Amino acid sequence: MNSENYYPFSYLPLPYDVAALEPHISRYTVYFHHDKHYKNYLDKLNEILANHPLMQNVPLEVLTKMGDEDLQKNAGGTYNHELYFNSLTPDYKEPSENMRNLILRSFGSEKEFYDEIADLGTNHNGSGWLWIVFGPQKNLEVMITPNQETIDLDKYNPLLLIDLWEHAYYLDRQNERREYLRTVMKLLDWEKAESRLGGAE
Ligand SMILES: [Fe+2]
Repeated sequence: MNSENYYPFSYLPLPYDVAALEPHISRYTVYFHHDKHYKNYLDKLNEILANHPLMQNVPLEVLTKMGDEDLQKNAGGTYNHELYFNSLTPDYKEPSENMRNLILRSFGSEKEFYDEIADLGTNHNGSGWLWIVFGPQKNLEVMITPNQETIDLDKYNPLLLIDLWEHAYYLDRQNERREYLRTVMKLLDWEKAESRLGGAE
């Protein structure tokens, strides 16, 4: 994630090689997604803030909630993509015992958890994001936000984030969002999720 967290925001490199997610997500999808889509949001965010000195010390999380539509869209697009690329790994490992227990406590079974992700993500109409969060009930929850909106980051701790925009999968799977979601489940970085949780469970 953006370590300095203030303007000017840095263009973060992929945490793995552009081809590392193959055969699940192609290098073409990852390249256009990271080097074009994500960078475009980041560049526009920095452009907007260059003309608004009073907002240059506002952290990225707060900028995602600012009222101005253009600012929200580009701050959200930056925050969400940085978390997305850092939610995936080419070296998939099953959730630890700790995380598995949290999944079972929250959803009853791993199958119900993954079905919830597939169903909610597939049924969401239009662009958006699917969040796997740790909520105030001390449980995992799966939530959706439209467009480039973020969840309530004061209330929920985002552990993993999945991009539902067509640009995340269209080159590889055309309109098959459910297939993409099933694929992404094999790439989720549960070690990073657990470190974001920070022992709060
Ligand atoms: Fe995206």
